[in-house]
Amino acid sequence: MNLMASTIDPTLDLIAEIKRLREEKNAVILAHYYQDGAIQDIADFVGDSLDLSRKAAETNADVIVFCGVRFMAEVAKILSPQKTVVLPDMAAGCSLEDSCPPDEFKKFVDAHPDHMVLSYINCSAAVKALTDIIVTSSNAEHIVNQLPEHQKIIFAPDRHLGGFLSRKLGRDMLLWQGTCIVHEMFSEKELIKLKARYPDAPVAAHPECPDNIVQHADHTGSTSSILKFALESDADTVIIATEPGIIHQMEKAAPHKTFIGAPGADGNCSCNTCPYMALNTMEKLYLCLRDLGPEIDLDEQTRVAAEKPLRRMLEMSPQTGPSKDLS
Ligand code: 13P
Ligand code: SF4
Repeated sequence: MNLMASTIDPTLDLIAEIKRLREEKNAVILAHYYQDGAIQDIADFVGDSLDLSRKAAETNADVIVFCGVRFMAEVAKILSPQKTVVLPDMAAGCSLEDSCPPDEFKKFVDAHPDHMVLSYINCSAAVKALTDIIVTSSNAEHIVNQLPEHQKIIFAPDRHLGGFLSRKLGRDMLLWQGTCIVHEMFSEKELIKLKARYPDAPVAAHPECPDNIVQHADHTGSTSSILKFALESDADTVIIATEPGIIHQMEKAAPHKTFIGAPGADGNCSCNTCPYMALNTMEKLYLCLRDLGPEIDLDEQTRVAAEKPLRRMLEMSPQTGPSKDLS
């Protein structure tokens, strides 16, 4: 029998219980746009990685329930160490994080002592501790533009985001060769076919996508910027090349429009659901609020070392609203 099913009374009103526990424990529920729609709907705040980091740093709540993946919950703990930070499923990892083992990354960094180290927020706390400045897809361009023109840069772990920045900003960067398994699944051939079927539909893509997908995009940027673009576009139909969870917010805000997930090689987009994000469910959200676990626990030395590049990111980010983006 499913252990979790056995611990939850099937007659329980999950939504009411989550709301009751949130109040009782003075908790805030933060959710990324890639979470299931029901989780987004019950969250206190839904946003991209930068928005969520800021919220985690600022909250007055005693408990942060992070509905996203583990590295995001770790960021919340790094920035708010006195808070209890829980994640519905501790197995919610990230392929970009997995693609950058800290030991190997340390050797790489040590071999290039004249380079500044920029890491995408999608990495472990140990990799952050080896980094000079963290970036997200919504502030990366703004931050790189503040670095001296001849500054040598290592960019890790996403080679697609790094390549995009390097091409767009004309900066030579040494790229760690990590990738996101979700954004790598989009098929250029199928996207071209879809564009032929909807010639008036613009394409919005996340910079974690390979260049052959980004080349077809009318807008490239973070999840929050993709949402903004899709809602502000005059087009009735918009093609979305990122994890399809974000379409939930688009459909809520503009029910009269059509948002189509960019296809994978099989011609549909079901393969582009992030399997890590999908581990979080309403049942696990209820349990983690009830039991205040699984809880994020970092060793203090790593936390302090990882906090520095995250604080630098917050200082160097645009100060207001959704950041200037990579469009
Ligand atoms: P943003 O929300 O910063 O666009 O990042 C997307 C992502 O990779 C989440 O894992
Ligand atoms: Fe990681 Fe990709 Fe999932 Fe984002 S979508 S959490 S980058 S595997």
